[in-house]
Amino acid sequence: MNLIIRQEQIEDYELTEKVVKRAFANAEHSDQQEHLLVARMRKTSGFIPKLSLVPIDKEKNEILGHILLSKIKINKDDNEFVESLALAPVSVLPEYQNKGIGGLLITEALKEAKKSGYDSVVVLGHPEYYPKFGFKKASLWGIKAPFEVPDEAFMAIELSDNALHNASGVVEYPSEFFE
Ligand SMILES: CC(C)(COP(=O)(O)OP(=O)(O)OC[C@H]1O[C@@H](n2cnc3c(N)ncnc32)[C@H](O)[C@@H]1OP(=O)(O)O)[C@@H](O)C(=O)NCCC(=O)NCCS
Repeated sequence: MNLIIRQEQIEDYELTEKVVKRAFANAEHSDQQEHLLVARMRKTSGFIPKLSLVPIDKEKNEILGHILLSKIKINKDDNEFVESLALAPVSVLPEYQNKGIGGLLITEALKEAKKSGYDSVVVLGHPEYYPKFGFKKASLWGIKAPFEVPDEAFMAIELSDNALHNASGVVEYPSEFFE
């Protein structure tokens, strides 16, 4: 397969949402509404077009998945805040899963985020999957989710040294996350 990863374009939106919907159709811990989350998030000020990526099979010119990183804040215990990113969601079409595409998407998104000047990313997800990319339990830095979540499923990664060193606090997601 001749795979490229590129920024999602406006012309891709409809197709990407179909891909996200299919990817999550049988996923555990899913409300099967992730495609709607993507659509809502694209309209918020936290949306960063450069950090909405799609893997493409160049021969078939087909979108095989999607990843989105968007802006969030960590409201610190001392009333200051730290800017960060949330990885949500990431998806790969069922028939293309377990071929390394999800891993490539995550690696590429983290690289682009760092290049764009962001220095950390938070994710709520499978505790066996994200540590492969360097994510650790967010609680190690005292970072908490604004909702009940298993400790090991709420993770973060520093894209530059000690970026989360002084970031103990509660993550604030845009309200569109919860609609
Ligand atoms: C999760 C997902 C994006 C991974 O993409 P992918 O292309 O299949 O992943 P990769 O091929 O890069 O990696 C495969 C590895 O991920 C693991 N993995 C895949 N889905 C997983 C899950 N739900 N829980 C834990 N591990 C999972 C596989 O076991 C495999 O592990 P191994 O490398 O040790 O064998 C994809 O499976 C997907 O779209 N799932 C449905 C949507 C979803 O759950 N998204 C994540 C929300 S947090």
